Amino acid sequence: MKYNAPKYMNDVLPVARPDKAWLHSARWRAVERVFQDVCRLYGYREIRTPVMESTELFTRSIGEGTDIVSKEMFSFETRGGAGVTLRPEGTAPVIRAYLENGLASEGSLTKLYYIARVYRYERGQKGRYREHQQTGVEVLGSAEPLVDAEVISLAVEFYRRLGIADTELRINSVGCPSCRPAYREQLLDFARPLLDQMSADNRTRFATNPLRMLDSKETQDRQALEHAPRLVDALCEGCAGHFATLCDLLRALEIPFSLDPHLVRGFDYYTRTAFEIVSRGLGAMNAIGGGGRYDGLVEECGGPATPGIGFGIGTERCLIALEAAGIELPVDDEAPVAFVVAIGPAERARAARLLLDLRRAGVACDADYGARSMKAQMRQASRLGARWAVILGEDELSRGACSLKDLQGGAPQCETALANLVERLSQ
Ligand code: HAM
Repeated sequence: MKYNAPKYMNDVLPVARPDKAWLHSARWRAVERVFQDVCRLYGYREIRTPVMESTELFTRSIGEGTDIVSKEMFSFETRGGAGVTLRPEGTAPVIRAYLENGLASEGSLTKLYYIARVYRYERGQKGRYREHQQTGVEVLGSAEPLVDAEVISLAVEFYRRLGIADTELRINSVGCPSCRPAYREQLLDFARPLLDQMSADNRTRFATNPLRMLDSKETQDRQALEHAPRLVDALCEGCAGHFATLCDLLRALEIPFSLDPHLVRGFDYYTRTAFEIVSRGLGAMNAIGGGGRYDGLVEECGGPATPGIGFGIGTERCLIALEAAGIELPVDDEAPVAFVVAIGPAERARAARLLLDLRRAGVACDADYGARSMKAQMRQASRLGARWAVILGEDELSRGACSLKDLQGGAPQCETALANLVERLSQ
């Protein structure tokens, strides 16, 4: 083979391969449909944005010191010399589009959802790819904890409908620009004497982005910071009240959660609520969704002060979790209702017209198109799982009729007038 898919990117196929059944397009559509249904129930409307944006949008919003901006972006110059980046996440593009198109004028609250391909130059492994898909939502215009609870409830409802049962919701508050600086100092004081016990990455973070030290997956870092001061204990009154109300609301909605004081997530834009949903069955790449509040981001992107919150859910990880749990979602029936079998050139021309009439009437149908034998065409009809074979033979056609063979039930073959066929098969 001369060409391969780009490294750590996947083809989603019309067939379920035994080793990677989750890469079956019918399953993707099923998951996307569940997400769209839930979003509609919660009053969210769809937004689609370009796959790339100006690089500066991402460096400013996500933050220069984050892994995503410093190591993982697919950035390049256009022929015109503009610096652009394939979106490494869905939030900043939605805010850019929200501002550019004046969506704020539609009402005090804007509730949006998206299904978007996302690009990160990461080391690939099962569940972590350089191209992945996120189903996400963003709500702009409210700082109320009720909205945080609704956003989390929407995500939980999505997993519930998919049937992914072994999930765990972890939440934290990352504070705001008024309480975070003091906490940052506390954390630096705590970590300073422990620096030589920590990884090189965490020593760098100590200097550039100290909160991110808490997010390290390295055992040595986790051990060193196990008893680090907790952000939730250092919140200002406003942030503490917001977090307490959110916890009460989640209890009222009967959404189980645990407090994860080390949850900071890989973006600088978060304020207050941060959350992640993990699926215990997934191994290392177990975060099937994550999100949080970003009350300063719209302003950072050049708009008026507007609070916001949202999440992104990894489609691949949901599909892998479903496969691991042996859950089969109902998928579209892709088999044609009818397969038109024609032998000679005149019959094949008649078949072309019949296919058009059937399709216009909403009957999914197919044909062989080549001059293959009747037996070969019937075999193809069976392989596709067609319900009926419509056989156009010279004799039948001369009578304005065709033969109809039931390929699923055992009913004997019968002759039908062509004039009645479309109506009969569209029932
Ligand atoms: P994130 O946690 O980076 O958040 O990504 C959201 C989800 O996308 C993850 O929980 C995971 O399921 C999936 N994901 C992330 N990276 C990969 C990858 N390389 N391969 C496969 N799946 C992946 C965000 O992107 C935020 N924009 C979410 C958000 C929206 N926050 C507020 N609004």
